[in-house]
Amino acid sequence: MRLLTVKDEPEAFKGKRVLLRVDYNVVKNGKISDTYRIDRTLPTIRFLLEAGASQVVVASHSGRPKGKDKKLSLKPIVKYLSEKLGSEVGFVEDVVNGDAPEDKKVVLLENLRFWEGEKNDDPEFAKALRRFGEVYVNDAFGVSHRRNASVHAIKNFYDKRYAGLLMAEEVEALTTVRDNPEKPFHVLFGGAKVKDKVPVLESLIEKADRLYIGGAMAYTFLKALGKEVGNSIVDEEHLDWAKDFLNRYGDKVALPVDHVCATAPVEECGRDYEVRDTEGVDIPDGLIGYDIGWETVKRYRDGLKGANMVFWNGPLGYYECEDFECGTKLLAIFLSAFKEEGKKVVVGGGDTVAAISTFHIPYEDFHFVSTGGGAALEFLSGKDLPGIEIITKKED
Ligand code: 3PG
Repeated sequence: MRLLTVKDEPEAFKGKRVLLRVDYNVVKNGKISDTYRIDRTLPTIRFLLEAGASQVVVASHSGRPKGKDKKLSLKPIVKYLSEKLGSEVGFVEDVVNGDAPEDKKVVLLENLRFWEGEKNDDPEFAKALRRFGEVYVNDAFGVSHRRNASVHAIKNFYDKRYAGLLMAEEVEALTTVRDNPEKPFHVLFGGAKVKDKVPVLESLIEKADRLYIGGAMAYTFLKALGKEVGNSIVDEEHLDWAKDFLNRYGDKVALPVDHVCATAPVEECGRDYEVRDTEGVDIPDGLIGYDIGWETVKRYRDGLKGANMVFWNGPLGYYECEDFECGTKLLAIFLSAFKEEGKKVVVGGGDTVAAISTFHIPYEDFHFVSTGGGAALEFLSGKDLPGIEIITKKED
């Protein structure tokens, strides 16, 4: 069984108004922070128009607004979409009572989370959305782990729910990583919160030949091994889990052997701290680890050379400050060359994607860059995601 996609039944869209749910969670302070998630939905919009849809009504959330927060309005996306599609895109401000302008082929709805009904999975709100399309397409992989009205309660109002082209690609790429990765399969994990990564690490380690750990989560693992971590962030609640994980899989796991530290907590890049490299794995008291060191970069790089497929999630250090960007930047550059060698690097997670963008590495240099953050991790953990569950299945 696989998802029913728009390509399976293009005739379903001819002369129809289509409600297309996307994930444009990219507006920050009234501006588009990154266009990747928008760009990745353009093929679906174009496909629907070419299939003869009379109108495509695009719906998304952005941020976690409390009420109608102007800074999180989707209006700035109208101009960008109009430029990309080469025709003027309409806008509906009042999603519950307003109508889509009939003279526009593509129309964007205001941020769905401006209405409580979206977050509460309220069927009444889903019913209001039903007015905008006779056919429903879900291309919002990034939010498929949320039980929100436009990706879940909406199921009651359409006999068939189609997957868009992006949704289909995401599910295919991440299913391969989860169930059938090419071997040798290596996994590179960074980021701060151990808690968020426990289920996905437990799932991926079964298939992985090697796991490299960096970022702030590394200090929890190092402390679990009895190493000195100075004043670095440690997730005390997950120390026992980390110990147990290393007991079970230690022979597959690589941890940092040196670090780049600060003499004080980093609140503003380049200010009120000094940078210190450690000699080895132990971090002396008074220092806080913020990046993997040079020896670790070399070891991780040499190890990753042996992979045919890599899944990468999470920055290896506090890349937002130049002082601590090296680990993430050097490995990102290194992994971006794999595609030319026919090796596959799949990147997931909002922060990792943001890091790649900060370093101006084109997303196309990787085999697949997921638009999902939390959704990608939950998917890889083996969970059923509500937004995917409701998509109609097709028997092969
Ligand atoms: C994301 O960016 O992870 C999704 O858009 C979901 O956003 P949320 O975590 O605010 O629900």
